[in-house]
Amino acid sequence: MTTTELKTPPRLPLGLLLESMKKIFTTLTLAPQKYPDMLITGIPGVRRVYMVNNPEIAQHVLQKNYRNYPKAKGYEVLALLLGKGLVTNEGENWHKQRTLIQPAFHRETLRRISAITVSATNQLLQRWKEQEGKEINFTREMAEVTIDIVAKSLFTTDVTHNHIQTIWRNVNFLNESADSKLRSAVRIPWVIPTPKHQKMRKYIAELDELVYSIINRRETEKNPPPDLLQLLLDARYEETGKGMTDLQIRDEVMTIFMAGHETTVNALSWTWYLLMKNKPEAEKLKEESIKFAGGRDPAFEDVPAMVYGKNVMNESMRLYPPVPVVGRRSAQNDEAGGYLIKAGSEVAVNIAGLHHHPAYWPEAFEFKPARFEHFDLKGDNRFIFMPFGGGPRICIGNNFAMLEMQLINAMLASRVEMELVSTDVKPIALVTLKPENGVVMKIVKVKGA
Ligand code: HEM
Repeated sequence: MTTTELKTPPRLPLGLLLESMKKIFTTLTLAPQKYPDMLITGIPGVRRVYMVNNPEIAQHVLQKNYRNYPKAKGYEVLALLLGKGLVTNEGENWHKQRTLIQPAFHRETLRRISAITVSATNQLLQRWKEQEGKEINFTREMAEVTIDIVAKSLFTTDVTHNHIQTIWRNVNFLNESADSKLRSAVRIPWVIPTPKHQKMRKYIAELDELVYSIINRRETEKNPPPDLLQLLLDARYEETGKGMTDLQIRDEVMTIFMAGHETTVNALSWTWYLLMKNKPEAEKLKEESIKFAGGRDPAFEDVPAMVYGKNVMNESMRLYPPVPVVGRRSAQNDEAGGYLIKAGSEVAVNIAGLHHHPAYWPEAFEFKPARFEHFDLKGDNRFIFMPFGGGPRICIGNNFAMLEMQLINAMLASRVEMELVSTDVKPIALVTLKPENGVVMKIVKVKGA
């Protein structure tokens, strides 16, 4: 087919575009109702964005012809913090790193993460015991527990409580700064020392110092723990037999912190927001969880049997995908699903839209975890439901995240009684989908902490 025979997707009128910017998440979720395949948005003559709402086109962009679609420009902002870590790396270099790092997320790592998660959640429950009858910002609490988990998964006991507090403060600030840089129409160049840039540099330097000091200590340690950092230090490139440079390890460690933290916090926040609003589903999760986490701590081996817990997590990420859109650029003119995608455009794979597409999801806006009982997560469905992205750049931490979230949920469902205080939480779609001001809950009772 020549390019002249290909279809051009309909364009979102400018007035509607401006209106839709105010409520981006609603726009994303409703888009497939009017534009089931694809639409063009952006500013005419300045910026052309193809928004992909169709699973086959999504698969084409993210998998079948992924080499034509490097990451969108926005990722350059993240590169200030993450250097050439997996999220911001491209091409051959990315492939080399992905091949090297993937094995670190193996079964034994997951088993260690499981024990770390259970211990961190027990500490959280002890804290909450003191808060009975009081209100908590659930999102903030989840942020604290998940940073603890990721820090210990990477560094075991090389990080103290004070270190974790610093990491938490700095990672949150840097995440927010990257978000606001991505949002602003005019991006002030990084070299200009604005107060914000100076603070960002200071926070990056503090994290660097911490990460490098741990790396240096490890290099002389006789019996290092088999944590994620050690697996990164021990990994060897097949062609050279050499390991990563300290700089590359630093970039990968920072990437794991930044990529794995906020996404998990958002997913847990939305899950409990939904559960509190859907009592029968919460009750069903509690029933299942009591078996594994009621009178004892759950084990790694229990997780595959937490079937309802997994359905709850999937349904929550369907309704509120923690990463609502993944962004790419088109290098060359291309054809996908009979449409022309012009070179030099942006391509936004609308995960939130795919998750609400009327062709695939009956009662798409309802919370119904049971729908996942009969939904094959593999095969063609991979690009209809894709909270972790798709194709070769699919999230490397997806098993880590699912394990961590299922264990936390089982422990909370079986041991904590909570009430929802913030009844109408707005989703804010930036790089991730945040609950505005966090989800506030009242702790009624904590059992057995
Ligand atoms: C609910 C939790 C999570 C969600 C929803 C999520 C989602 C995603 C998505 C959608 C992508 C693909 C981005 C793209 O194609 O542009 C991605 C990539 C990535 N994620 Fe996650 N993620 C989660 C947790 C984690 C965790 C816990 C880690 C690390 C321990 C992690 C590390 C990464 C990395 C390193 C990449 C880049 C992979 C590559 O390009 O090769 N993520 N994630």
